[in-house]
Amino acid sequence: MTRGSPESRIKELRHLIRHHNERYYREDAPEISDAEYDALFRELERLEEAHPGLFDPESPTQRVGAEPVEAFGTVVRELPMLSLQNAFGEDELGAFDTRVKRFLKGRGFPVSAVTASGYVAEVKIDGLAVELTYERGRFVRGATRGDGIRGEDVTGNLRTIRDVPLEIPRKGTAAGRRSPLAIRKDPPRTLDVRGEVYMDRRDLEKMNRGRERRGESVFANPRNAAAGSVRQLDPRVTASRRLSLWVYGTGRVEGLSLATHWEELGLLAGWGFRVNWEGTCLCRDIGEVIDFYRSLEAGKDSLPFEVDGIVVKVNDRNLQRELGEISRSPRWAVAAKFSPDRAETSVTDIVVSVGRMGTLTPVAILSPVNVRGVTVRRATLHNQDLVEEKDIRVGDRVMIQRAGDVIPEVVESISARQGDPGRREPFRMPETCPVCSSPVERVPGESAHRCTGRGCSAKRKESLRHFVSKDAFDIEGMGTKILSVLVDGGLVSEPADLYALDRATLAGLERLGDKSADNLVRAIERSRTPTLSRFVYGLGIPHVGRHLSEVLARHFGSIDAIRAATPETLLEIHEIGPEVAESVSSFFPSDEGRRIVDRLLREVTIRPEQRREGKVSGKTFVFTGTLDTPRAKAQEIVRRQGGAVAAGLSRKVHFLVAGENPGSKIEKARELGIPVISEKEFREMTEEAET
Ligand code: IVH
Repeated sequence: MTRGSPESRIKELRHLIRHHNERYYREDAPEISDAEYDALFRELERLEEAHPGLFDPESPTQRVGAEPVEAFGTVVRELPMLSLQNAFGEDELGAFDTRVKRFLKGRGFPVSAVTASGYVAEVKIDGLAVELTYERGRFVRGATRGDGIRGEDVTGNLRTIRDVPLEIPRKGTAAGRRSPLAIRKDPPRTLDVRGEVYMDRRDLEKMNRGRERRGESVFANPRNAAAGSVRQLDPRVTASRRLSLWVYGTGRVEGLSLATHWEELGLLAGWGFRVNWEGTCLCRDIGEVIDFYRSLEAGKDSLPFEVDGIVVKVNDRNLQRELGEISRSPRWAVAAKFSPDRAETSVTDIVVSVGRMGTLTPVAILSPVNVRGVTVRRATLHNQDLVEEKDIRVGDRVMIQRAGDVIPEVVESISARQGDPGRREPFRMPETCPVCSSPVERVPGESAHRCTGRGCSAKRKESLRHFVSKDAFDIEGMGTKILSVLVDGGLVSEPADLYALDRATLAGLERLGDKSADNLVRAIERSRTPTLSRFVYGLGIPHVGRHLSEVLARHFGSIDAIRAATPETLLEIHEIGPEVAESVSSFFPSDEGRRIVDRLLREVTIRPEQRREGKVSGKTFVFTGTLDTPRAKAQEIVRRQGGAVAAGLSRKVHFLVAGENPGSKIEKARELGIPVISEKEFREMTEEAET
């Protein structure tokens, strides 16, 4: 077994996950965030799938949770409490639907078997899973999930929770929950009810404040709080905490057969258990499930308790039985977690990157963590002042966040907040450029540090990267690595040099084959006729972004006029302030600016700005379902062609573009009389205008 081999990584992951299972399930004190744990678990699942020869029945992927703690009595169950497979994001929900149908088809069931009774989607509450056993309607035992088969006996503790009925009323006697969806029936002889013990966010905060005052450790999240409160040897402690219970299913149900999960929930409500109807949705198809997922993700922060996703279940119990389970989880259900926009991880290093203008940016290298479906390995720390203010150091536990498409950033150092005593030295900006070793200066009046080296190759590379980028000269295939090789090899130092590259030179570069070289040559040729605004933007003049480039192009109409602009003429433009005026009027006459523009104008021809008057301009689009084109790209096409994108349907919307598994928006669009078009039609509509 060599280091770095799949085998050694699998071994390492199994070891790590076992360790974290212990911390999470037995000690209620996790060391890493759920997102990090999920990332490790996924990596292991993928590796095991790719290397079936390394299968091990003892692997944490094959088991549920951790073994029970011996201090509690053990409850051994006939019907194990299973765990759930995770799906991340909407595409994976679609994949679950496909898997279910494919499996059932193999067993001779038509697709309509699933659609007949649909799916039930429920909020996934972040708490502690428990099973309550009732004999002839009396609560006799309560246990945690433990390893699925053997759980910890916490009967006495669960008795103290108000939502746990001690007795199930017989039909016709006392009332169950007053829910219109409740079904009234006598309780079966033996009944196992499964659900989640949880703590409201506000109660958790209140409890943590008290604990902090008393110098006790605080609970990291509602799950740990619920678990820590139930897994107490003294029931009085449990009783003193405000715990609640939602139920979502059954184990053994003797003497009663249930046709659907929906009916199961109705019966539970009728027996007096709390069913979270607001957080439960009977869905006809996966499209409706996805709609529920989206609306819950948007509204989850206003719920009084923490939810970390949804659970989707095949409604028909016969089909559930048919689908069965694989190792630790049923085939008929899946947990679709919301990817957090924030996640906890640790800083393994702080490096400094040099930008286009020579600005030095400290960047945190992180231990990889999944944030909204993306694995994050680096996060910007912006500048020295911010690093100091937030006191972020190598080795720290940190909270990171991703907002929209913005680069991830470090929000805070948890180690600093907690006053961790064993921290490393504070970060200091280097005195010389890490790339060209020229002295670094602090820009007066700003928090930026800048490399003073005129020919710093990092600056050159970054300027070129900007030049070839999508919104500038758009040279597809000219990636960072190729640019780096070109600059380091002395072949290119400024934009005009790119036009001197030929096929033979490019094909001779590392990593580049003949075909890529051909494509690259074609892309370079195509970029020889930029519009004026792209030309200006590509120059990378400080403070002149896409929008201001368009403003300048529109106002002056030619590159000669822009080059001749004085600060005064520039300031006449409504959108331009003194800083930009200064930047533009000093760039063009400078030696460097003049040389770059003159040389470039010998290679390229500026073409007139195009008016885009397609079917799209002035129209509003809404997208639904899964598209072949990434959603962000489709939206960008609309905007680029003068259209608008809306999140929801209203009378102002002109088209609904429906991808796969579109959900209920289609019906709403029909009601509103909004045309529904396919992705293909959308593409035809926009391609005409895209030149
Ligand atoms: S159903 C076989 N429904 O999530 C089905 N579980 O990752 C098993 N959970 O152990 C569970 N809300 O602790 C189900 N509405 C819900 C749930 C839910 C939270 C928890 C439960 C389970 C874990 C699985």
